[in-house]
Amino acid sequence: MRIVVLVSGTGSNLQAVIDAVSSGALDVGIAAVGADRPGTYGVQRAADAGISTFVVDFKSHPDRAGWNDALTTAVLAHEPDYVVSSGFMRIVGQGFLDSFPSRYLNTHPALLPSFPGAHGVRDALAYGVKVSGCTVMIADAGVDTGPILAQAAVPVLPDDTEETLHERIKVEERRLLIDTLRQLAAKDR
Ligand code: GRF
Repeated sequence: MRIVVLVSGTGSNLQAVIDAVSSGALDVGIAAVGADRPGTYGVQRAADAGISTFVVDFKSHPDRAGWNDALTTAVLAHEPDYVVSSGFMRIVGQGFLDSFPSRYLNTHPALLPSFPGAHGVRDALAYGVKVSGCTVMIADAGVDTGPILAQAAVPVLPDDTEETLHERIKVEERRLLIDTLRQLAAKDR
């Protein structure tokens, strides 16, 4: 099973996938890693691991449709079985989704359908929940609305900040993403 991973930031979840692949714990091929802006640490991590990288810079396209087409073309060139959004902070258009039907995975640092959007950890903490967690789902055209594949719970501690809670959630998020990819790879065989 070939995957393309999309990142916008530090790519610590991507690093966990790279490590699982190189240790043999996860039997998938990372065909490429792409980003929506230049200079991400996620792309650097991929390059350091000898993985092909590409950037489809959102800001260098005059409109969202043009960026979306360019992203779709760039990802299709690597012929992935699945595309994984790993901290990719852009909503993709229908053209992209139609190119990878039910094959675009996303992770979210909260227990959906609660606390969707870019600030899931902050919003859960502000609400005062005692348990949060993470979700792996198939991405659709909405914001964190696609079918849920897996979830894990993470307790909120009394002195948690957004950062401390997010770090503990990310530990579970990595495990869940790798487990989900392993199951999909087994099914694809
Ligand atoms: C993850 O918690 C992801 O769900 C969220 O951003 C984080 C990505 O972190 N949208 P990293 O770039 O993998 O370190």
